[in-house]
Amino acid sequence: MELKSPAMFIGVHGEGIISFGSGQPDLPPPKEVCSVVPQQKAFKYGLIQGNENLRHELSKQEQFKGTDQDNFVITNGASEAIDLVLRSFGSGKVLLHAPYYYSYPPVVKAAGMKPVYTQTLINSPSNPTGRIQDVNTLKEIEKLTTDLGIVLISDEVYKDLIYERQNYMLSGPHVVTVNSFSKTFAMCGLRVGYLYSNDKSIVNEVIELKTHTSMNTNILAQDMAYEALKAPHTYVEKQHKIWQERRDLIYEGLCDLGLELWKPEGAFYVFPKVKNPKKMVWDLYKKHKVITYLGEWFGDSERIRLSYALDKAEIEEGLKRIGKYLGQ
Ligand SMILES: Cc1ncc(COP(=O)(O)O)c(C=O)c1O
Repeated sequence: MELKSPAMFIGVHGEGIISFGSGQPDLPPPKEVCSVVPQQKAFKYGLIQGNENLRHELSKQEQFKGTDQDNFVITNGASEAIDLVLRSFGSGKVLLHAPYYYSYPPVVKAAGMKPVYTQTLINSPSNPTGRIQDVNTLKEIEKLTTDLGIVLISDEVYKDLIYERQNYMLSGPHVVTVNSFSKTFAMCGLRVGYLYSNDKSIVNEVIELKTHTSMNTNILAQDMAYEALKAPHTYVEKQHKIWQERRDLIYEGLCDLGLELWKPEGAFYVFPKVKNPKKMVWDLYKKHKVITYLGEWFGDSERIRLSYALDKAEIEEGLKRIGKYLGQ
C-alpha cells in the first residue's frame, strides 16, 4: 500500500469513481467569463505584474479600498503567490498552523526555509478543517506580528465561502494577502490568483522572481478573471447556497455513520477522525472506488479529508459506499 501524496489522486475520475479528493468546484464559473474568449487578439507577453485592468478592479474591492493597483501581483493561482513570496524571503522560519494545507510545508522547504508548527490559524476558513478562526484571535495575531515585525501571509482563498460565524481580514504593512479565482469563481484550471502587500519591497521582489520564472500569468485567463470580478454578485450568493446544502448533507451523513468531526463553518471540506486512516483511504479507493485524502498529508494522522465539491447525488452515493466500508 503506497499513499505518498495527493498527486496520485489529482485529476483521477471516471469509471464509477466518486472523488472526495481535490478541492475543485464542479459548478460553472460566471457566464460572463467566456464572453472575452472569441475577442482575444493579444498573444504577446503581458506585464509581469499582471493586467492593469484586473489589478485596478481588485484594488476597488471592499477589502482593498484605498489601495493602489501597483501593490498587487497577478499570479498562477494562489499557489504561485505563496511560492514566490516565500522564495523572495529565502531564509528563516515559517510558523505554520496545524493541520495545514498540504502544500505549505513543501513550498516552505523548497524556499530554503524551515517550517515550525503551532496551532495558530491564518488560513481562515481553513483547508482541511473548514473552520473559521476566532476574530479576537486573528486580531491578536495581527497585533503581535506587527509588534514583532513578523511578516504574516494570509491565505484567503476561501474567504467568500462562509456559512456561519464571522471572519476577519488581516491587514497591515506586514500582511501579505493571497487569494485566487479558483474557488470563489470556480476557475481553478485557468490558474489565476494574486497577492497584495502594502510593502512595495515585497511586491518588487516577487515581480523580479516572476520575471525569471513563469513571467506573466496567462493574459486570456486574466481577462476572464476580470470578467468574473465584474459579474453580478448574485453568482457568489447562489453558489454559497449550494455549498451550504452540500455541507449539511455530508456533515449529517458522516455523523450518522458514527464518525467524529467538526462542523465546517466555511470552505468545502470535512476532516473526520477515523480508525486506521491509511487502510480506510486505500480500501475506499481500491474496493469501493471512493477517493479521500489522508489526514497525514495535512499534519493530522488520525483523520481523513473529504472535499464536498460534488453534486448531492454523488455525495449520497459516496456516503453509501463509506457506510459499506464501515460495515453499516
Ligand atoms: C488553502 C489553499 N491555498 C491555496 C490553494 C491553491 O489554490 P490555487 O488554485 O489558487 O493555486 C488551495 C487549493 O486547494 C488551498 O486549499
